[in-house]
Amino acid sequence: MEKIAYFVDLQPELEDFLSAVVKGFSSSRKSLPPKFFYDAYGSQVFDRICATPEYYVTRTEIGLMKDIGAEIRALAGPQNVVVEYGCGSSLKIHALLEALIDPAEYLAIDISKQHLINTVEEIVADYPDLRVGAICADFSASFDWPPEADQSGSRRLAYFPGSTIGNQMPAEAAQFLISVRRLIGEGGSLLIGVDLKKDIGVLNRAYNDAAGHTADFNLNLLRRINNELGASIDLSSFEHRAYFNAEKSRIEMHLESNIDQTVDIDGRTFSFKSGETIHTENSYKYSLAEFSELAEKCGFKPRKAWTDADDFFSIHYLDAR
Ligand code: AVI
Repeated sequence: MEKIAYFVDLQPELEDFLSAVVKGFSSSRKSLPPKFFYDAYGSQVFDRICATPEYYVTRTEIGLMKDIGAEIRALAGPQNVVVEYGCGSSLKIHALLEALIDPAEYLAIDISKQHLINTVEEIVADYPDLRVGAICADFSASFDWPPEADQSGSRRLAYFPGSTIGNQMPAEAAQFLISVRRLIGEGGSLLIGVDLKKDIGVLNRAYNDAAGHTADFNLNLLRRINNELGASIDLSSFEHRAYFNAEKSRIEMHLESNIDQTVDIDGRTFSFKSGETIHTENSYKYSLAEFSELAEKCGFKPRKAWTDADDFFSIHYLDAR
């Protein structure tokens, strides 16, 4: 961590896996939080999903970022402090940093300390002249601009790619946008990737890839329960289910038990009826107008939104109002 200008550890509370599983399995509608997909294996499988022909999200956003670089550059102007939420894809942050004129600082925010360190170290190596800092925090909770970060008054440009906002319930998404607005302050902007509503067949195929990576990703939750909590769930007794719920405008992912069974975890027994599901993820899909309206309600003024040629994905540039 030699050349990292600062590392602020807000010591986010990490919900432990056992408590989350017990809580989720004790409810009348069983569920598990999607954040537990991303252990080392799950993160690798997620990268495989991103490379499947069916999952258009990642490659469409990367292509769009490359196409709109000059426009982002013109809107953002020089000397931005780039604040990346949930640092993820290095291709996307490279596209942004390279589009901008003389960025003043790069600040990464992530809940996972190790992931954060890896990301900022990469950025330090790739941009040796850039001031680079990190905050280990749960970005769904609000926090103040740290004193270690840029204090020169340079404008703050927040970046939240990947349509990760789609994995939040609309009320949580609003809370998140409000806290970003607070952190970037007046004069700041937010660049955010948002997946769009589209043909149901395209959506359903994106979450049911033929190679089975999304199924593997979903079933990884059960694999983790076996490996980390000493259970012995037969993974073949659960099926991956993903479908678009048009009424709620979201892809829902579930794990469906294909038999009546009981599962023992840490001295507790949970029963599953055949056909009963564990709800593992929502991925909300917005229209351009719906997302702009949400952003406006949360203190932003939409400046520009771009979509790819198929209108599959959008990137919004929002100014703090
Ligand atoms: C990370 N997130 C935006 C992905 C999505 O599309 O909702 C997670 C994912 N789940 C299944 N495939 C990809």
